[in-house]
Amino acid sequence: MSSSKLSEAPTEPGVADQVQAHRDRLFPWVKPYYDSPLVLTEGEGVWIRDENGEAYLDFFAGIVTTSIGHCHPAVVERVRDQVGRLGHTSTLYVTREQIEAAGRLMEIAPEGLVRTAFTNSGTEAIETAVMAARIFTGSSEIVALRHAYSGRSTLATSITAHAPWRPVPTTIAGITHARSPYTFRSPLGPDASDEEQTDFFIQDLVEVIETTTSGRPAALLVEPVQGVGGFIVPPAGYLACAAEVIRSYGGLLIVDEVQTGFGRSGTHWFGCQHSEVIPDIMVMAKGIANGFPVGATMARGEVAEAWDSLSISTYGGNPVSMAATSATLDVMIEEDVPARSQIRGEQVRRALDALGQRYDWIGEVRGMGLMQAMELVEPGSGREPSPARARALLEAARSEKLLVGVGGLKGQVVRMGPSMLISEEETADALARLAAACEVVDRAF
Ligand SMILES: Cc1ncc(COP(=O)(O)O)c(C=O)c1O
Repeated sequence: MSSSKLSEAPTEPGVADQVQAHRDRLFPWVKPYYDSPLVLTEGEGVWIRDENGEAYLDFFAGIVTTSIGHCHPAVVERVRDQVGRLGHTSTLYVTREQIEAAGRLMEIAPEGLVRTAFTNSGTEAIETAVMAARIFTGSSEIVALRHAYSGRSTLATSITAHAPWRPVPTTIAGITHARSPYTFRSPLGPDASDEEQTDFFIQDLVEVIETTTSGRPAALLVEPVQGVGGFIVPPAGYLACAAEVIRSYGGLLIVDEVQTGFGRSGTHWFGCQHSEVIPDIMVMAKGIANGFPVGATMARGEVAEAWDSLSISTYGGNPVSMAATSATLDVMIEEDVPARSQIRGEQVRRALDALGQRYDWIGEVRGMGLMQAMELVEPGSGREPSPARARALLEAARSEKLLVGVGGLKGQVVRMGPSMLISEEETADALARLAAACEVVDRAF
């Protein structure tokens, strides 16, 4: 469906009523973007249409999740077929769909990750990973990184290191946080070399382990690129050194690939592969099933096999989600999504770098593959975050019929991560809309 075809759709009334009903009926934290929220009805590829029949170019993909585009026909067909045959079994029974999806993951996962547990979200996949590390090591302490986001359960919000995402004071003991390898905000300044930055952040990690844990932590949990934190890319060498450090204290390395996985970071299937690091446990969700609710935790055999107590996930690995997973992974493998993500990511990056040169309120452009971001600052202030500009850019992009996301501790980072099957022309179209939105923001401040 082209944008012109999308805009032929009939206009539906009642948008304001629906937004009001959303606000009245749902918990307030189910908070949509925009002063006047979008009510979405249909999507195809990178296009998505609202209740008024207006077409938008989706450059954020439902938080880097519709990894091969809205309603990809191969996924739709497999899910339709599956839902009409067998929709639910629980984890008490064997299904071909679950075995097949686990097999697909093993084809692309780093070597040695041979067992998988399917759940329904990234949060649950994190819970599974932390439990597995605790059982295997007999230790309960987890070291995470500041600016991390791990989900919305009590455990995951305690690991998450962003005050705005913590609704209650941290209640889970045994979780400590080392510095995020956030070079743009590093005390060393942005001009320090990668080696200097890596040494600094690794020293901090060592100190956190030695001063805030028993010295025998169960695991270090890291995102190869911190997603919600604002696509924070660590200096080269950081992840490999961090893996060495945690293992030297007897802990496991848990890598959270919820945002970076499935080609999103370009060239490789998983973000950790850029550093040639093989995790002991790997966490996946979001792009794994093109929007269907799937979380997956993979682990080394001996780690998974240490967990022999009872556990169940009623919906985890259900046949419909598994059909969506295998269909998505089949398309990704066939289309060589990591390579496509790298090439389109470079196209996006060139355009963002040009915007960064042009506007002094773009403090840093960063990212990998098709996860690219601009951190916005108050001009002339050095690095003072500018959430007001990020909000304005989100709204201005929407006026250009372009959907982007925000992130960062203060909401000062504009994030982009479209379908990895986006074409060169669609990418150019999105970037032209973004440039127009930047001009509006520049004039407004
Ligand atoms: C890195 C990371 N881990 C875990 C999660 C939690 O995933 P979910 O929202 O599916 O529970 C998220 C969600 O944004 C995430 O970005």
